[in-house]
Amino acid sequence: MLEVRCLTKAFGEKTAVDSASFTVDRPMMIGVIGRSGAGKSTLLRMLNRLSDATTGAILFEGRDITTLRGADRREWQSRCAMIFQQFNLVPRMDVVSNVLHGTLNRRSTLATMFNLYPQADIHRAIEILDRLGIAEQAPKRAEALSGGQQQRVAIARALMQDPAVILADEPIASLDPMNAQIVMEALRRIHEEDGRMVIANLHTLDTARRYCDRVIGMRDGRIVFDGTPQQLTTGVARDIYGAGAGFSEAATSTEIETLDRTKPRSAVPA
Ligand SMILES: Nc1ncnc2c1ncn2[C@@H]1O[C@H](COP(=O)(O)OP(=O)(O)OP(=O)(O)O)[C@@H](O)[C@H]1O
Ligand SMILES: [Mg+2]
Repeated sequence: MLEVRCLTKAFGEKTAVDSASFTVDRPMMIGVIGRSGAGKSTLLRMLNRLSDATTGAILFEGRDITTLRGADRREWQSRCAMIFQQFNLVPRMDVVSNVLHGTLNRRSTLATMFNLYPQADIHRAIEILDRLGIAEQAPKRAEALSGGQQQRVAIARALMQDPAVILADEPIASLDPMNAQIVMEALRRIHEEDGRMVIANLHTLDTARRYCDRVIGMRDGRIVFDGTPQQLTTGVARDIYGAGAGFSEAATSTEIETLDRTKPRSAVPA
């Protein structure tokens, strides 16, 4: 499905991603971990073509996407939606319009100028918001929502593109543990129910272990681990994070584990 071959990105002297290779043969939920500066964001940005590779290839269903230009590149970007740590919503715009922005690629300039959306798209946007448990927030301004709710709006906007792949760059890094859990569960559900591939850069080991089928560990631009959560032992983690004997897993933990999972969703302050 997805094959990354010797992908390299250099910024002058600095090699941010160094000959990264991996193959994904079915839609999986993949966590990318590694310390700050390891190259995680650069890898995701190249997959989405926000950033051009220096050398190497990215094949999706047999087609090299690193060479796509113009409309082909934009089409790939809508098949491969990206979610960011800071949500990247339009703060003063209402939630449903933010979600409808996910259809921007296929609307005319005039329709965009007058904020005209087909009725069917509006219905779909509300359905997606409902699926994510935030339909009642639809008329509110994005800035009036909590971080966890805003990230779910960003996921809804991504889903509006009906993407084959969802790339998430530290999607829960700005959220408290409870909202982090809600967002990760939403991504997991989208992966399982829709069969979409999810690749998420994650700061914490426990999150990667808990939600992902596969974990890729990066260190200094290189992929130094690629395996299952079970194979990601403390020793392997120490190697990925380049930490010495003083390495503690707690330092990369999110306390998610300590949440009371028996509480019904409606009681969760979002
Ligand atoms: N536009 C750029 N120009 C120059 N250097 C860059 C640029 N983007 C990234 N780098 C460098 O490339 C390396 C990898 O950066 P990247 O942002 O991919 O790391 P990361 O693993 O996402 O880190 P973090 O966990 O802090 O987000 C870093 O050394 C960074 O300074
Ligand atoms: Mg990053």
